[in-house]
Amino acid sequence: MNLDQAKDKIDTLRHELEEYNYQYYVLSNPTISDYEFDMKLKELEKLETEFPQFFDPNSPTQRVGSDLNQEFVQVKHQYPMLSLSNSYSEAELFDFDQRIQKLTDESYEFVCELKFDGTSVSLIYENGALARAVTRGDGEKGDDITANVRTIRSIPLKLKGADYPASFEMRGEILLPFAVFAELNQAREEIGEMPFANPRNAASGTIKMQNAAEVAKRKLDSYVYYLLGENLPDDGHYESLQHAKRWGFKISEHTKKCADINEVVDFIKYWDTERFNLPVATDGIVIKVNSRKVQSNLGFTAKSPRWAVAYKFKAEQVSTTLESVSFQVGRTGAVTPVANLTPVLLAGTIVKRASLHNADIINKLDLHLEDVVYVEKGGEIIPKIVDVNDSLRKADAQKVEFIHECPECGTPLIRKEGEAAHYCPNEIGCPPQIKGKIEHFISRRAMDIDGLGQETIELLYQQGLIHNIADLYELKAEQLIPLDRMGEKSADRILSSLQESKNVPFERVLFALGIRFVGETVAKKLAQKLVSIEAIENATLENLTNIDEIGGRIAESVITFFQDERNRELVNRLKAQGLQFELHESVLEGRSQKLEGLSIVISGTFEKHSRDELKDLIEKNGGKSVGSISKKTSYLLGGSNVGPSKLEKVEKLGIPIISEDEFLKMIE
Ligand code: IVH
Repeated sequence: MNLDQAKDKIDTLRHELEEYNYQYYVLSNPTISDYEFDMKLKELEKLETEFPQFFDPNSPTQRVGSDLNQEFVQVKHQYPMLSLSNSYSEAELFDFDQRIQKLTDESYEFVCELKFDGTSVSLIYENGALARAVTRGDGEKGDDITANVRTIRSIPLKLKGADYPASFEMRGEILLPFAVFAELNQAREEIGEMPFANPRNAASGTIKMQNAAEVAKRKLDSYVYYLLGENLPDDGHYESLQHAKRWGFKISEHTKKCADINEVVDFIKYWDTERFNLPVATDGIVIKVNSRKVQSNLGFTAKSPRWAVAYKFKAEQVSTTLESVSFQVGRTGAVTPVANLTPVLLAGTIVKRASLHNADIINKLDLHLEDVVYVEKGGEIIPKIVDVNDSLRKADAQKVEFIHECPECGTPLIRKEGEAAHYCPNEIGCPPQIKGKIEHFISRRAMDIDGLGQETIELLYQQGLIHNIADLYELKAEQLIPLDRMGEKSADRILSSLQESKNVPFERVLFALGIRFVGETVAKKLAQKLVSIEAIENATLENLTNIDEIGGRIAESVITFFQDERNRELVNRLKAQGLQFELHESVLEGRSQKLEGLSIVISGTFEKHSRDELKDLIEKNGGKSVGSISKKTSYLLGGSNVGPSKLEKVEKLGIPIISEDEFLKMIE
């Protein structure tokens, strides 16, 4: 294939893939199978590696995000990112309308939009391509989060059509749909991370992660709602958004043009309850004057536009009685107090229980049994107790005390300094923790054991057939077949899947062990750096914290895990059963320590290797591949088209630039 042919093919594939992405993530209407999509993506990746001169940060291949750590650079907003003034009642909306009437002689319409409860973003497009994405920050300047935003599939990297302005800004909200949020929190709890309180926190936490490849895995979504710039296609805000939809942006299908404020009120009444059926969190309605011309007549106050207002939904609240408090032990041993309430209707569902989160919250509310409590459904999905009516409390009411012993196994609970949660430390003997560990071990991203689910694990545990993960490999067909809803076929499937799992690579086995704070990425880092389980078992705090991205908290957790004789024994049993406890030879090939202690920044495009391959080579040879230049950088590995800001920075700091060939010599 010559250069022209390659360029043509690359362009065609990029175009096709972006179109499929659009159909899937913006229109929710996939037109090809995942398999076909992956095949095309692979073909494009191959061509881009072969022809690095055609590198494009907005290629669909870049949506997986780089694994290099980034530092966020602050950027000034071209138009300050203001907020909206809030209103809470119909009367305030009529006032808003009156104020506008006084300020303008023109007639006007309103546009009503859902107020999405995520984190706002400013997207800059130049000549039809995403050039920069910035957080709100303090409204004047924010963080450049372009690399992370590129991974959000519903944000177009290249625009469709041709009638977009050469340069414009689009504002929108980045959010995590409820379903993805629930999945994420479950995964976090499995590795002992604190779950996010609500989808908004999860979205804003995710978009500021240093590693774009991790962001890509979180499946963020977006809606855009505000177009800014010169030469916009239409005077109407509503009409502009319809144009933006054709350029490939995801806009809400629930936006409505309203002739007057009465129609606005109807819209609000409808969504006040209907919003609970949406797949994403909303906390109000935004009402905007449609005409841009009228908008500019009205202008801004110091804080917010005069042409728009937010109507905030009242978090629905009801009162009921606290009947009792129970304490639940999670898979990680965290103990959560749960309030059992007299059932009551709240925002369309019957509420019987509310989360109390931790001991501090119980104390702050000064809860007593039989208290009349106020329950609210806010941004969180589980209702919470927000207040107590203590004037109705009987004199002899019993104060709610946090328990001291685990309700499942009786072990005294502990509370680590600085942490809100109480834990049951009996990781190996406490039933929900035992079952939780086994469930994590067999899960898809860990050992991926077919045919074993939560119910079967419960059954096997109840029958005394398994007490830990190593017991799984000693299960026999004759033990499984007689179980409820089992049979020969299912038993066979479980046993052969367990056999197959002996080929699961080391990093996934390490993840499957369920060491607190050792998620997939950390497990991969540990496996790659330390190569074998023995090295990890014997590593010191210093050995561990020397590894990129492994901090004190993770290191301590690894050490504590292996200090426990019972864990060592478990690992030994698994080893004897034939699971992978060191990196595969093919991964080990070509490894050295020639770059030990060196920290290298890759920039530009290269002739012989792709940037990912170079990164791999740096790490395989004991070096550290980092995303941005600092005083600690040893070399800039530069290809053609090194960014001018990078060149300036290395010159200023006196950091040597090496070419691809010089680099390859260093590791020869
Ligand atoms: S318009 C100048 N429209 O609400 C006005 N904002 O307090 C620009 N938000 O920071 C904002 N949904 O994060 C607008 N449909 C919507 C919105 C929306 C959510 C957020 C946005 C903004 C905050 C305003």
